[in-house]
Amino acid sequence: TTSSNVSSTDIGFKAVPTSTANEVVVPEGYSTEAFLPWGTPITGSYPEYKPDGTNTGAEQEQQMGMHHDGVHFFPIDQKAGGNSSSEGLLVMNHEYINQGALHANGATKASDNGGVRPADEVRKEIAAHGVSVVHIKRDTSGKWDIVFGSPFNRRITGNTEMDIRGPVRGYSKLITKYSPDATETRGTLNNCAMGPTPWGTYLAAEENWHGYFANSDATQPREQTRHGVGSSSRYDWELADSGEDQYVRLNVSSIGASAADDYRNEANTYGYMVEIDPFTPESKPQKRTALGRFGHEGVIFAPAKEGEPVVCYSGDDSRFEYIYKFVSSKPYYAATAGGYLLDEGTLYVARFNDDGSGDWLSLDLNDAEFKAKVDAAVGTTVGDIAFDGFENQADVLLNTRLAADIAGATPMDRPEWGAVDPNSGQVYFTLTNNSRRTEDQVNAANPNANNRTGHIIRWSEEGNDHTATSFDWDIFVFAGEQGTETVVGDEVIVSLTDDNIFNSPDGLWFDYNGRLWIQTDGSDAAPYQNNMMLAANPETREIKRFFVGPQGCEVTGVVSTPDVKTMFVNIQHPEGNWPDSSDPRPRDATVIVTKDDGGVIGA
Ligand code: FEO
Ligand code: CA
Ligand code: CA
Ligand code: CA
Repeated sequence: TTSSNVSSTDIGFKAVPTSTANEVVVPEGYSTEAFLPWGTPITGSYPEYKPDGTNTGAEQEQQMGMHHDGVHFFPIDQKAGGNSSSEGLLVMNHEYINQGALHANGATKASDNGGVRPADEVRKEIAAHGVSVVHIKRDTSGKWDIVFGSPFNRRITGNTEMDIRGPVRGYSKLITKYSPDATETRGTLNNCAMGPTPWGTYLAAEENWHGYFANSDATQPREQTRHGVGSSSRYDWELADSGEDQYVRLNVSSIGASAADDYRNEANTYGYMVEIDPFTPESKPQKRTALGRFGHEGVIFAPAKEGEPVVCYSGDDSRFEYIYKFVSSKPYYAATAGGYLLDEGTLYVARFNDDGSGDWLSLDLNDAEFKAKVDAAVGTTVGDIAFDGFENQADVLLNTRLAADIAGATPMDRPEWGAVDPNSGQVYFTLTNNSRRTEDQVNAANPNANNRTGHIIRWSEEGNDHTATSFDWDIFVFAGEQGTETVVGDEVIVSLTDDNIFNSPDGLWFDYNGRLWIQTDGSDAAPYQNNMMLAANPETREIKRFFVGPQGCEVTGVVSTPDVKTMFVNIQHPEGNWPDSSDPRPRDATVIVTKDDGGVIGA
């Protein structure tokens, strides 16, 4: 119980020191256990994980994917208005893969194999991407386990069939051989962070999707150049030796007579937020195009209010990219809410003015100001793109980055996760770093040239109304070495110490009491050492290091049960043989954190 003079956001534990150990470190009085490592069987025939790397592609489709990232716990009774902290659906993203660890003897390179890759290796790699839905339950001894045979257990992969929804659905620039009416696609890739919706579904973000496509055409369309699709792909999946359509589609060159004969438009079906309903296992994932197409890191919803629009925020994690907000056209009613609310609305992009004010700039062609900017830009060069206009609103959304350039948004230092303070309503975003920002490119919201350590920005919407088109912002904290100061007026509000130095904030989450959890994906050299998670009091800006990950990893993805007594923290791309010293392969895993006295984490 909380005594009357202790705020629910006070940070009660003793900070842990930095660490170089190949293990998880948490404060005294807390315990951890690795759970659901890559390869754990979770569905189908539950094929056993083989530490020698010989699991097949078909087996990987029934096992946990690799590179765990954003994660959410849905109480099993949520749809009935319940709040279970002992049973639920744990849903998580698998951002990318460690090819060396995935196969028995590493990956077979096309360059060493006559220009092709073994199809089953490719199948396995695609299956190690995507999303896992795992029904989990805590037994009376407090141990969490998978509910074997549960109908909710499910894998969604880089090859799962999906619908295109929202304004871009049916647009000619999404026509492919697979979907001549531009309404469907296959797969979701590079799913980084996520966001639970107010109606109990999960949105997975497609971040660095561009790397999975290859285009050998002499020139590429702006829908690819603005994202950096290259002439070869990250893992050469399009070169699978079976020649099957599911792999060939990743070659987005113009090789057929028309768009309906090839996959020149396949990349236009990526870059979205993908809605998955974990409580409806047979449901088809839905790509929600009204939220824009870019390098989506994740999404965070403002608390839904009966009869008001739904509002969510999403960052585009690339240097000098932007922060967006979507406001639905239709009002939210708890009884009827669903993904359709995300199909119609206004997408805005943020401008952070140097005086601490900010504006949400509409990207809707029906907005007179935006339309005038678009008209004025026709015939000019925007970035590297010779701009000849937008055909319609679908074209605007397909080229969201370009639209935001034209609108005059503020280029940020790599926006990663966002979080909304359940007590104050303030919105926080991590700006992880941007070593390419030069002195003449700084602005008040991104004030550091060569920003190697990042910062966290926050704002209050005007009138604390999330649909407002203006806001007031400030910088919550600058990350960095000991002595790094965050100054408000003439007062040093934060000066980092051994208890809280950190760099490259990435994951960000407010727990259900209002403590802010900050995860890092940065330099793991001295003085920071291994990546970590810290807890912050948003009112006082007290920050303490709570958790340090094993060697080489980033700490990304955090959620708890509703009572905040079990916390799930993801470890991505660990090294060596973490978490099992008897296994030669490193395995991404979810770390379960509990307090030994059964209390609230962080209190
Ligand atoms: Fe996948 Fe921006 O981190
Ligand atoms: Ca990552
Ligand atoms: Ca991230
Ligand atoms: Ca990152």
